[in-house]
Amino acid sequence: MMQSDDLVATSIRPRRSVLYMPGANARALDKARTLPCDAIILDLEDAVAADAKAVARDQVVAAVSEGGYGYRELIVRVNGLDTPWGADDVQAVAGLPVQGLLFPKVETTAQIDDILAAVDAAGAQSLPLWFMVETPQGVLNIRDLALRTKRLSCLVMGTSDLVKELRARHTESRVNIAYALQHCVLVARACSLDILDGVHLDFRNQVSFRSACEQARAMGFDGKTLIHPTQVDLANEVFGYDAEAVTEARAVLAAWEAAQAGGKGVAVLDGKLIENLHAAEAQRTLAFAEALSTR
Ligand code: COA
Ligand code: MG
Repeated sequence: MMQSDDLVATSIRPRRSVLYMPGANARALDKARTLPCDAIILDLEDAVAADAKAVARDQVVAAVSEGGYGYRELIVRVNGLDTPWGADDVQAVAGLPVQGLLFPKVETTAQIDDILAAVDAAGAQSLPLWFMVETPQGVLNIRDLALRTKRLSCLVMGTSDLVKELRARHTESRVNIAYALQHCVLVARACSLDILDGVHLDFRNQVSFRSACEQARAMGFDGKTLIHPTQVDLANEVFGYDAEAVTEARAVLAAWEAAQAGGKGVAVLDGKLIENLHAAEAQRTLAFAEALSTR
């Protein structure tokens, strides 16, 4: 059984709302400095047309160098190393003050070795890496991919590409991709990695967006990748903890600590059994709230 000493403070980086921003869109690059999202993915890949790749790269370098993004975690999504732009993207952005580089369509460990070599050669030997899982190979190989490098910090589902590659269709229930999504969450949890759900394309529909967020939250996702500013508040709400949850967590922890001090392994709060797992969950909730409040 876990003792109170085992409840070590966890350091948590909230990633409830992670907004893609097309690198070619100067207005969006500026706008993101004021949005309440936890992280921003400055995109050089899918959101940027081939003839705008160089401009997008220059604009992203300029925007990050200028700064002003505050607490928001900054990630750059580069093009794959098998494209005409990937190597130049890595060279251009690896030295920027960003918290990670996101690589698209990661499928094999050989690809990861190439990514590590490219990022290291660009002089960023300790820069965290994020991988997109968005193909059948990626989903099937995810455990090997997740274990390849300790520099991996976060997995990101690319549900639009996945649906395309599966020759499936976008459905509101997402029952057709639930197996793939849950498999990836399972691996992420087993490997102590964060994992983010894919984007909701019908971005003006708050009803279907809420239901997609709640489904992802129930599956265990840490947050949702977003495409539009109007999605940020709802993602923050669904993937976060409200004041009531924080109060409840405090009560759970207090009851459990009192039980421990009295030599008991379990406690009862409002007629419900509190065990060490509930205490650990409560502690995570409080650490999450603390991480948000200290921004
Ligand atoms: N990040 C930051 N700001 C954004 C934004 C984003 N992803 N999307 C829109 N905005 C800004 C606009 O610049 C505009 O700002 P302003 O009113 O201060 O000038 C405001 O939000 C409203 O935008 P709106 O007119 O409603 O959006 P739109 O119709 O011009 O564009 C999309 C809609 C979907 C094309 C656009 O949101 C977008 O490009 N999203 C990202 C797509 C992407 O990154 N895809 C790759 C990953 S799947
Ligand atoms: Mg993609």
